[in-house]
Amino acid sequence: MPWKTSAIYYGGDYNPEQWDRETLAQDIPLMKQAGVNMVTLNVFAWGELEADEGVWDEDGFSRLGERIDSLVDAGIAVDLATGTASPPAWMAKKYPDSLPVTKAGVRLGFGSRQGYCLSSPAYREGVVRLSREVGRRFGHHEGVALFHINNEYGCHINECFCDRCGQEFRSWLQRKYGSLQALNDAWGTAFWSQRRRSWEQIDPPAQMPTFPNPAQLADWRRFNNDQLLGLYRLEKAQLNEIAPQVPVTTNFMGYFPPLDYRQWAREVDVVSNDEYPDPADPAAAAELAWSADMQRGYKGKSWLTMEQAPGAVQWRAANATKRPGQWALWSLAQIARGADGALCFQWRQSVAGAETWHGAMVPHVGTENPHWKEMVALGKQLANLSPVAGTPVKADVAILVDWQSEIIRSTAIGPVPHSWLGQARAWHRSLFEAGITADVVGSDADLSGYRMTIVADMAAPDKELAKKLEKFVAGGGQLIATTGTGRFTPAGKATQGGYLGELTSLFGVNVEGTLYGSNAAEADVVTEGEDEHLGGSTPPGSPAGGPDPRVCRITAAIGAPASKRYVGLETVDPALERALDSLCEVRPALRGRTRADAIRVDDAEAIAFFTDGIASDLNGQAAICKRKVGKGQAWYVGTDLDFAGRAAVLALVGAHARIRPTLPDAPAGVEAVKRGKVLFVLNHADKAAELAGIVGTDLLSATQLSGHVLLPPRSAIAVWQ
Ligand code: GLA
Ligand code: ZN
Repeated sequence: MPWKTSAIYYGGDYNPEQWDRETLAQDIPLMKQAGVNMVTLNVFAWGELEADEGVWDEDGFSRLGERIDSLVDAGIAVDLATGTASPPAWMAKKYPDSLPVTKAGVRLGFGSRQGYCLSSPAYREGVVRLSREVGRRFGHHEGVALFHINNEYGCHINECFCDRCGQEFRSWLQRKYGSLQALNDAWGTAFWSQRRRSWEQIDPPAQMPTFPNPAQLADWRRFNNDQLLGLYRLEKAQLNEIAPQVPVTTNFMGYFPPLDYRQWAREVDVVSNDEYPDPADPAAAAELAWSADMQRGYKGKSWLTMEQAPGAVQWRAANATKRPGQWALWSLAQIARGADGALCFQWRQSVAGAETWHGAMVPHVGTENPHWKEMVALGKQLANLSPVAGTPVKADVAILVDWQSEIIRSTAIGPVPHSWLGQARAWHRSLFEAGITADVVGSDADLSGYRMTIVADMAAPDKELAKKLEKFVAGGGQLIATTGTGRFTPAGKATQGGYLGELTSLFGVNVEGTLYGSNAAEADVVTEGEDEHLGGSTPPGSPAGGPDPRVCRITAAIGAPASKRYVGLETVDPALERALDSLCEVRPALRGRTRADAIRVDDAEAIAFFTDGIASDLNGQAAICKRKVGKGQAWYVGTDLDFAGRAAVLALVGAHARIRPTLPDAPAGVEAVKRGKVLFVLNHADKAAELAGIVGTDLLSATQLSGHVLLPPRSAIAVWQ
């Protein structure tokens, strides 16, 4: 059933099974006070509902039924979970092989959560039984607005190395390859004596002496995605049969590498997402934006924020709490980018169990405190925001991501450590800092509505994509691709004859090889401390250290560019120079990190060249190239540019694409996003921000703004324009 909403949802996971009647009696009045209009029930309540195999606990069901009734009477919608996320104790005892097995062959014990083997018949049967029973009893209840299937699939257990999973893996491979010969060829088993002569010789990639076969590991990842998706489909089929009028979802975890969420998104009626940025991380605002742009991209539609923490979590090494205002600010930051809800984990803070010290809307201390005031204040704001429910966000820039490329790249051994979508995130971060909204979409996305497309470090683009990009550029689009792109064929083998593969002719350059530097371990460019380069300070790791030439006559005389931690570039291109000058008062150095491509320029114009650092052996050779194709241009960037480099390239290419920030000249710390007719301005900074020229009704406070606005620290406005 398609999902439609005319409200912004507010509330969270509600676990009444943890509470006595007296406490429960307080919940609904408090929910009304806070403006809660949706809660998620029954996520981990299997143990309350099924006393033994096939034996329903009628008390458990009637307590659940009563809660649904009272919520509905109070006008609070229910997102009803099937409750299959954690099987009960009897299952572990009766079917020990329903418990998952680790890579090292250890069968895990009962007593935590998500304790199931992905292929366990007992678990599958239990899932069918429970989801049908929940659907049968409550699926036609007027208050059930949404089914919440399972919970965070794969969060703790996304692979199981038991014999049954091994058997299912073999069947999966048989279906995929048809013949052993095809498998041997795809896996390259001629290497290291790995040839399989019967299907029985294939097992899951358990703990091994050294590197596993990358193709085997990649297939194992794909197989486990399919196993989990199969479990989801199994539940969905039951619910669709019993209560087809109720839309279904399962909550995603932002970007979760083991699962191909783009594929999953096609099978949920509404995308829902759990979002736990770390309040101790200054880049949390950027992370939120990245994840939100990705959620929106999964289906090209609005989605629900299903979970976030109303304070601190308990599961990090250091559990920073949200700062005053941040609860509302971060909720609104997601709504600005297309969320139709700000739900959380959880309504009432537990007094027992593993999540006792996780924040909640109603904390241990009760409701006479500033925390509760914030909970209530956001509820009021969200009630005013219903005009944005379901409305779209329009972006001019597409960042393309590709799960198969990430699987291939992450299972390859070297040449640089893999960081999940590290470069795509880095470019997104730079767009975020520049105030430009981007869609994060799959390589299969329709690009016709975009003016700029970024393909960052996409390991295995295919022919289809190459054709689509050619069309995009010829039709007037600006395309940026970066180092790392095209290294593999879609089947996961190394690209021959030039690393850009299918994209070589579009960019008019042939990538003949790559130099790697010593900063490879810092591949996660999002959290790097590279701002120190601004203003051209000494590159880290350069002259200091190394052998003393007075006593090391030979080794001290040997240069080793690969020991450097940066890639030096220079440009004489006036437009790129202007772009660099536009960033700050002193022109920042143009630099990259990690990788420098050896580029042969066939049919393109080089606008920047390598100079020193890791790239010193490429001195004078092309580093950034552009090529005119039809009405557009294709830009190739042969290194992992740092913040300044990316900002400069975006300024340059963005000008060609005529892309402007949502709120030009926004003050420091201020994010601005347009959703439908509403301009969200979010001040993430610690000090008030002065805005000029803001005219319209602020929906959050229901006041008229007529130009000058002083936005307090960590607060937001949503202006209807
Ligand atoms: C996940 C789970 C919740 C809860 C939170 C705690 O998102 O879905 O059940 O454990 O984490 O942060
Ligand atoms: Zn298993």
